[in-house]
Amino acid sequence: MANPSLLILPGDGIGPEVMAEVRKVADWFGSQGLVFDIDEDLVGGAAYDAHGTPLTDATMEKAQAADAVLLGAVGGPKYDTLDFSVKPERGLLRLRKEMDLYANLRPAQCFDALADFSSLKTEVVSGLDIMIVRELTSGVYFGEPRGIVTEGNERVGINTQRYTESEIARVARSAFELARRRGNKVCSMEKANVMESGILWREVVQKVHDEEYPDIELSHMYADAGAMQLTRWPKQFDVIVTDNLFGDLLSDLAAMLTGSLGMLPSASLGAPMANGRPKALYEPVHGSAPDIAGQGKANPIACILSFAMALRYSFDRGDEAARLEKAVEAVLAKGLRTADLLGEEGRQPVSTSEMGDAIVAALAES
Ligand code: NAD
Ligand code: IPM
Ligand code: MN
Repeated sequence: MANPSLLILPGDGIGPEVMAEVRKVADWFGSQGLVFDIDEDLVGGAAYDAHGTPLTDATMEKAQAADAVLLGAVGGPKYDTLDFSVKPERGLLRLRKEMDLYANLRPAQCFDALADFSSLKTEVVSGLDIMIVRELTSGVYFGEPRGIVTEGNERVGINTQRYTESEIARVARSAFELARRRGNKVCSMEKANVMESGILWREVVQKVHDEEYPDIELSHMYADAGAMQLTRWPKQFDVIVTDNLFGDLLSDLAAMLTGSLGMLPSASLGAPMANGRPKALYEPVHGSAPDIAGQGKANPIACILSFAMALRYSFDRGDEAARLEKAVEAVLAKGLRTADLLGEEGRQPVSTSEMGDAIVAALAES
């Protein structure tokens, strides 16, 4: 049988730096007999610099054909003044939309070694293990009409929040399916008190629950109150399902429960293909971190854990995924920290590549 194929899109800023560490991990698995056919290509600002577009059609085709895609990060100040249609972020949004990756799984897990590093009290975050399921291909990110138009003597910026029943139902199913394999609880977040799309969201999630998943404990929360509850007592949650924009905000918030944005992986999944696996793109939750790019300071763990999610969800290698997650945990338990995981206590941080090397060494010892 052919080796599983992986398309790697390092992107911009710290993207290539953290992806270099994933390559070390993938190479190590290769040395153990789990060989991937890896292809690498450009996305975001890097693709714009080379081709004048943040994602070429050829790269899009490769992404559609790969068993899984792994993306580093896109964007940066150099591209801030570009026309909206060719901004680096448009490349990522095109991948998500054209691959129809509607369910974005963003787990937030607090490793024991980092429990006292979160900005929240240790007892609030220790042992935390929640999963945010963010709808990724619709909502205000894609709704029409949109644009900046002139009305009278001033300009108006327009975006539209729009959800169909089927879009809500399919992401709700993803959340319920995950909950069945976890803690059996789903909390759905919207703003049904002020938005019609929120009213429909609540109704459809409830209907899917009652008809297909009555065994799961379902609750509904307004997203603003949800943000408050996530910082007050996050361990009350198991799976959270929410729309594209609220999910973007709530997952960055959840990152700080785990210690750093540099820790959070994600999987963006579509419907199952003929082989039973979902179309999939794996990407850390963080961005290109222009403030630290090129300095060897980036934490590669979010990207490495995204690769672990690829092992689990695209390659049916749950054991290897768990082994990689354990290796990350072991390295943190030994006290190795990139700069984002250190406070003011004057300890010496390790570099991006030292962290990657340590994780590979821990894998080899495991
Ligand atoms: P960011 O996530 O890039 O950075 C926010 C803060 O977190 C910065 O201080 C950064 O140094 C820190 N940080 C992020 N990842 C880190 C890591 N792995 N290790 C250590 N520290 C890390 O968000 P931003 O600054 O708001 O955005 C910068 C650019 O990235 C923008 O162009 C934005 O559009 C883009 N962005 C891209 C993605 C993506 O590609 N998936 C996600 C978010 C933002
Ligand atoms: C994320 C990012 C993206 C988003 C941007 C870069 C398009 O913030 O993946 O969280 O808003 O979805
Ligand atoms: Mn974001």
